[in-house]
Amino acid sequence: MPDHGNAAAPRASFRSMTEGTQEDWGIIASQFFPFATNGGKRVLDHLRILKGDYGGFPVDRLEHSLQTATRAYKDGRDEEYVVCALLHDIGDTLGAFNHPDIAAAILKPFVSENNHWMVEKHGIFQGYYFFHYLGMDRDMREQYRDHAYFQHTAEFCEKYDQSAFDPNFESMPLDAFEPMVMKLFAAPKNSVYGPATVSE
Ligand SMILES: [Fe+2]
Ligand SMILES: [Fe+2]
Repeated sequence: MPDHGNAAAPRASFRSMTEGTQEDWGIIASQFFPFATNGGKRVLDHLRILKGDYGGFPVDRLEHSLQTATRAYKDGRDEEYVVCALLHDIGDTLGAFNHPDIAAAILKPFVSENNHWMVEKHGIFQGYYFFHYLGMDRDMREQYRDHAYFQHTAEFCEKYDQSAFDPNFESMPLDAFEPMVMKLFAAPKNSVYGPATVSE
């Protein structure tokens, strides 16, 4: 079941925000943090949509995601990196023409700048392995050659992303990554709605 909050919980009484009161916003704020900090669950629900979506690839997009994350995990990457690996293609269903932007936006409040840039730019870097088969420039990534996170992103694509299409690879199940995802999405580092001011 999608987690869309509790319809039976108290609600504000305003009809437009100009009528809003302190009491109204107390009601809303009290429900925001429990909902927001449970975001990992909704992200995982969305990731599951990729199951069965092959798009012509040897494995479906959920298996590709699990395989990318498993390879990163077994290579000793930290949890933040592994979650980025797991979610890097979560935008495939909502943003067919800009899928890296979707994952980058979802992860932005929770990850460091280098990992955010890596997820946001992975599509261009991954293109090194196939753009030339589609009449495109495989060296499109060269525009970022001098960027501080060029190697970080090139390495992600080389080691974990471009290599994660093996139908015989034994990926870890999604459940194995769930605690890492829940933990990461429970504590934003950068958000206008406040830093990690989450009440337990
Ligand atoms: Fe991708
Ligand atoms: Fe990918």
